[in-house]
Amino acid sequence: MERYVLLAPAKINLYLEIIGDRPDGFHELAMVMQTVELSDRITLSTLSTDTIRVRCNHPEVPNDESNLAYRAAALLGEKFPKAFARHGGIGIDIEKNIPVGAGLAGGSTDAAAVLVGIDMMWKLGLTRIELQSLGAQLGSDIPFCISGGTAIATGRGEKISPITDLQGLYVVLGKYRSLSVSTPWAYKTYRSQFESNYVREEASLLARQERVHSGPMVAAIAQQDGETIAQRLYNDLEKVVLPEHPKVQALRDACAACPEALGAMMSGSGPTVFALAKTLEDAKAIRKTVSSQIDDEDLALWVTPLHSAGVRVEKL
Ligand code: C5P
Repeated sequence: MERYVLLAPAKINLYLEIIGDRPDGFHELAMVMQTVELSDRITLSTLSTDTIRVRCNHPEVPNDESNLAYRAAALLGEKFPKAFARHGGIGIDIEKNIPVGAGLAGGSTDAAAVLVGIDMMWKLGLTRIELQSLGAQLGSDIPFCISGGTAIATGRGEKISPITDLQGLYVVLGKYRSLSVSTPWAYKTYRSQFESNYVREEASLLARQERVHSGPMVAAIAQQDGETIAQRLYNDLEKVVLPEHPKVQALRDACAACPEALGAMMSGSGPTVFALAKTLEDAKAIRKTVSSQIDDEDLALWVTPLHSAGVRVEKL
């Protein structure tokens, strides 16, 4: 039996701007994405039966076709039926460390790991671009999860331009365990409130995307300037998620008020809030202050460094 163990890291958004509507019903976005070290561990194995089997240690993660990791394996099975038949079924075991329904791309990164792992297991020889384009068929964040590091993402979020890796900073993640936000709900609510501001002409859309490439966030990343990055954190989805969830607003405020925090913001469609810190000690101090200020057993906090790559094979 062949067996591959992969690490599938989470992401945060340092910048998320909603530009307008797309003909496919999604939104045109301009984002700056960043991988963090907090990762799920995905074990892929061959099965003697002709099936796809998903198991996960987290009770809320489904084991059926609604799991993106399952769908990633099914997609490769469909595209490469001979390899599927030759190798037999696929076992996918997910050790969930990334919070679920959190705005950290936990489901997408697991699917990215399945694509990367099956490509190796079946010796398909797919390029990174080919894997990313298969991933884009399943979810907008999957292409970024494959390459990882620091990148600008445009289009639905699937067009990735890597930029200088941001290094050396630490991240404190905070999430209420029982709270999750539906991404479709967040975008739908945003549309209902802000549609009148949407950019419609192609030229203006391209100009908005270009503005991110040449803008202050990307310049601050090139200079590894943590203070400026923290001042330029931006996420349009905060406008709909924070008013709906005052607890998340309070968590964001508590993180931002810590003297050691360079800045704080919600990631993706939330409800995870992150704070940036210069050192591991600062990050631990933020975690301590926030957990003492918000006395709620439902609140979970993690400290994790940034990471410069996406899905990778675990070195044993
Ligand atoms: O691609 P993904 O599965 O992550 O998208 C989840 C949902 O988020 C979509 O069904 C859509 O409602 C919304 N979305 C969007 N525009 C994007 C990405 C996601 O409206 N660019």
